[in-house]
Amino acid sequence: MKKLEIKTQISVYESFEDLPNQIQSLMEKAIAAKEKAYAPYSKFRVGAALLLDNAKVITGNNQENAAYPSGMCAERVAIWKASSEYPNNKVIALAISASAASHIVKEPVAPCGACRQALSEYEIKQKDKIEVYFMGETGKVINTHAVLDLLPLAFDKSFL
Ligand code: THU
Repeated sequence: MKKLEIKTQISVYESFEDLPNQIQSLMEKAIAAKEKAYAPYSKFRVGAALLLDNAKVITGNNQENAAYPSGMCAERVAIWKASSEYPNNKVIALAISASAASHIVKEPVAPCGACRQALSEYEIKQKDKIEVYFMGETGKVINTHAVLDLLPLAFDKSFL
């Protein structure tokens, strides 16, 4: 038996204002997308914005359903929208913001496990890392330098 260590480097920005200009404007699009979320049940709104290598920005937000598991997260709405519209373009960066009706979300809201898995498919396919930036409504912004940094030991097509 041997023990291995898995290390991940992340960058933490103290606030939205500290982000590089290009990422600030991507995050602004995620925030705008969040306002259009359909979240009548959780009242937790999430917005995602993807920057593609053709300079297009594709946004998504969470879409809930009365049959709860039939709803979908913002990140997957965005990545599937991007892949269906621009299948041959690479994703450079993803910005995510979330807010709740009951309180101000001050901590960065990380993408859920299912979204990490879905996003990893496209990161592997494009052979280039996707920078991920996520925040709450205010406060710090966390930046991981790849989707796979959020999903060590990922399941991928090599197992099939
Ligand atoms: N949600 C997202 O949109 N993205 C995530 O990564 C986590 C959760 C949504 C799903 C649901 O509509 C609401 O947030 C509460 O879980």
